[in-house]
Amino acid sequence: MSEVNDIVFRHVDGWVGDKIVDIVEFIDEFHNAHAIHGDVAEIGVHHGKLFFILSSIAKETEKCIAIDLYENQSLNLDNSGSGSREIFERHIKELFPEMQNRIKIVPADSMSLTPSQLRETIGTAGVRVFSVDGGHNIEHVVNDLSLAQEVLVGGGIVMLDDFFGPHWPSVTEGYFKFMRIANRRLAPFLIYQNKIFLTTYSERDHVEQSLKNFIIKKFGAEAHKGNWKGVTISGVGCLAYS
Ligand SMILES: C[S@@+](CC[C@H](N)C(=O)[O-])C[C@H]1O[C@@H](n2cnc3c(N)ncnc32)[C@H](O)[C@@H]1O
Repeated sequence: MSEVNDIVFRHVDGWVGDKIVDIVEFIDEFHNAHAIHGDVAEIGVHHGKLFFILSSIAKETEKCIAIDLYENQSLNLDNSGSGSREIFERHIKELFPEMQNRIKIVPADSMSLTPSQLRETIGTAGVRVFSVDGGHNIEHVVNDLSLAQEVLVGGGIVMLDDFFGPHWPSVTEGYFKFMRIANRRLAPFLIYQNKIFLTTYSERDHVEQSLKNFIIKKFGAEAHKGNWKGVTISGVGCLAYS
């Protein structure tokens, strides 16, 4: 995985914190340990920075689904990023040709997708890692988290970008609105580098405990410094890193 990360951080434009790769490593370890299978998907791909990092953990049998407006930027209502199918496809061809067969490009406004259309369009039996980083308006966030929760497998992970980000307060508002009116199976377990991570309700405690073990194993004494804190968000416990 680290070779992919090096290439991504050198050659692909986008917005991904430098430590997100550690959490992706945890997700991969957790899913392998518990035989959790499924596709990888992202709404809001831009040039593919996070998408390639996530795709690097996909197995041969798992699809990598890239949903973006791409050239249809007139529907990018909040001007968040600027998807380019041309640049994305060039990166696949030049940087990650081995991923080509597994990547499915879905040029779409996520607001036009229903869960059943999403399943049909992407032909997925279930998604194990779903990044939500498309439109940043409240409506986009509620819609995209709703889509994600419908296709997520048990123990799968959803990550929402720009959570608590000062430039995009609408994302945080969208998250709380989703939790209030639409959530039926997701629970948060981590706030880290501009993202909130959620998993399915029944698996949340197990995921959080496994993450704590991973952090101690990976970072040793660093894990006990002041950057990590247990917080409560909407009544649910959550690890937070700052
Ligand atoms: C902030 S960028 C994504 C950054 C990317 N995840 C990365 O790793 O750098 C937001 C992306 O969302 C796309 N987008 C905006 N509104 C959308 C919508 N309604 N449906 C699908 N994609 C959308 C934009 O075209 C843009 O590529």
